Amino acid sequence: MRPVTRNLILAIETSCDETSVAVVADGTEMLSNVVSSQIDLHARFGGVVPEIASRSHLETLEPVLEQALEEAEVSPTDLAAVAATNGPGLNGALLVGVTAAKTLALAWNKPYVGVNHLEGHLFAAFLERPDIEPPLITMLVSGGHTSIVHVRARGDYDVVGSTIDDAAGEAFDKVARYLGLGYPGGPVIDRIAENFEGEPIHFPRGMMDGTLDFSFSGMKTAVINYVRKHPDTPNDALAAGFQEAVVDVLVSKCMLAVDRFGVATACLGGGVAANSALRQRFAAECDARGVDGLVPARQFCTDNAAMIAAAADWRLRADGPTPLDTGATPNLRLGSRA
Ligand code: KG4
Ligand code: ZN
Repeated sequence: MRPVTRNLILAIETSCDETSVAVVADGTEMLSNVVSSQIDLHARFGGVVPEIASRSHLETLEPVLEQALEEAEVSPTDLAAVAATNGPGLNGALLVGVTAAKTLALAWNKPYVGVNHLEGHLFAAFLERPDIEPPLITMLVSGGHTSIVHVRARGDYDVVGSTIDDAAGEAFDKVARYLGLGYPGGPVIDRIAENFEGEPIHFPRGMMDGTLDFSFSGMKTAVINYVRKHPDTPNDALAAGFQEAVVDVLVSKCMLAVDRFGVATACLGGGVAANSALRQRFAAECDARGVDGLVPARQFCTDNAAMIAAAADWRLRADGPTPLDTGATPNLRLGSRA
């Protein structure tokens, strides 16, 4: 067992379709980060089925928890706190993690910390680069959210742009479903686009000029209309063209925010930040501006408990424990804790 010299947080993430438990020391040093994905269970339905998600979290949480403690080589007595994502997310799925974390906190006599999932995605950057300091711009792009956040300080966030319709990941998933490419769509489209050597179809960008907001629904419709008019177009030319358009919009808006707020650091977060083309374009545009562009490792972009533990560490220091009568909040907003 490790000596108890550091602030060890055990965190549970069950907001959507990943069951994850992590142990992180001092908010930055990951000792374990076990992620069990339910993708195979949901794939045949073409999207996440909430009831299946909750049931699967119930079944998987205990072995994932045991593995996380074992890999971290810590015992519950070493922990400083037990944390869980308490929103936003699927209600039943969130409740599994929140109830487990509160029960463990009571049983082990540790403080409980409820963490906003979106704040967790923001803290993923600090896991890899504890040296970076706000102010910075983080673009959060996932299956449920697409926003540009001006992080003025830890805990002080301004959502300066967001989608007015579909989230970026949702658009990837819907286009992939329409093209019969399977679920989740993002990784499939990413792979197809990477191997495609021809000329991608050009789709309109939906730039929402001058604003930091996004609209992806029109881009999805553009793909559908194009296929109706040109039914023989190969899927890879469509997928590559769609990805190119989405990446173009995302990176342009993020750089607009970087310029507008004059920050020296920009970060990516959320599942879509695993996209190869987005990672490359974002890094290149940051380089061109002399901005420190942080692209977290893929394991910290998609849902994971290490980022929740990182945020919990800071929240515990800033606000203290979360009362045990605080529940789960499916539509929790960034900046709110309950
Ligand atoms: O953050 P995340 O794991 O879960 C949510 O909180 O939503 O994001 C999942 C989303 C899905 O829509 C998935 O298609 C997308 O992220 N995604 C990707 C890639 N990997 C996952 N999108 C584009 N390219 C990828 N490589
Ligand atoms: Zn997420």
